Amino acid sequence: MNATRASAPGKIILFGEHAVVYGQPALAVPVTQVQATATIEPSDEWTIDARDLGRLYRLEEAPTNTPLAAVIRLTLTHLNISLTRHVSRVTVFSTIPIASGLGSGAAVSAAIVRALSEYLGHPLADADVSALVFETEKLLHGTPSGIDNTVIAYQRPVYFIKGQPPLPLQVAQPFRLLIGDTGISSPTKITVGDVRAAHEKEPERYQQLFNQIGAIANKARTIIESGDPRELGPLMSQNHDLLREIGVSSPELEVLVSRARAAGALGAKLSGGGRGGNMIALVTPETEFAVRTALEKAGAKRVIETTISEGANDE
Ligand code: MEV
Repeated sequence: MNATRASAPGKIILFGEHAVVYGQPALAVPVTQVQATATIEPSDEWTIDARDLGRLYRLEEAPTNTPLAAVIRLTLTHLNISLTRHVSRVTVFSTIPIASGLGSGAAVSAAIVRALSEYLGHPLADADVSALVFETEKLLHGTPSGIDNTVIAYQRPVYFIKGQPPLPLQVAQPFRLLIGDTGISSPTKITVGDVRAAHEKEPERYQQLFNQIGAIANKARTIIESGDPRELGPLMSQNHDLLREIGVSSPELEVLVSRARAAGALGAKLSGGGRGGNMIALVTPETEFAVRTALEKAGAKRVIETTISEGANDE
């Protein structure tokens, strides 16, 4: 059999992270500038080679809750193919920073599901890729909403409500974002767990915060689908303030968000699980250079530019 390769993009949440775990709507887009790639090729024994993620092992030695091993086993089970047929080596590379809110775990899993199913002659539809990655995400996160696997598997902007089929997000006018990385790794499982504990302690207060975030996500959807994207700026800033109240910002995120706004960004917010990872800033061609420079001076470890448009996004 020939070696087969497949890729999956990173992602950012535009609006609604955390509240989406509690049934509120959220908006997410793929980020094609960063990618996870999986290659499957024949081998003497099932091996997972993900050396840039610090993993190299034989499948049979991998604990069952290891996401890379789990996604291979789940895909084979889904395809009704036994491990003893088509013994393979699975090699994974990723340019998506780990635990940074860009969906690295979901993208690696999606790349493996796509490459493996194609290699075995049964390429899977986006919905099946998404469902298999979701099963794997549960091992990583505990209680993911399903938004990461959805946007990464469908590779297009989505309007997402937990437990419902995702709706495509129509982008009426393209808009430009800078994605600034604090360089601080912050596993989503931990922030989601902390928010859960805080919600249990103060259910009414947290429910209100989640409701406000959901309302912002709905307004943002209307603007993206039929309005002027510059109006997203204030909504991003409001969403960020609510995420801070929820307890998932950090001093480093606050610095990047406030410097971006001071340098002329129309709005800025943390994106993803928070406490580290990435933030996003809405820019125009006129402000982009100043905002990028401000983010770099404020300590951003990397700044990615992305244009959000219909379908995938472009450099
Ligand atoms: C992570 O990208 C988004 C969170 O809302 C978690 C989730 O939805 O599973 C923080």
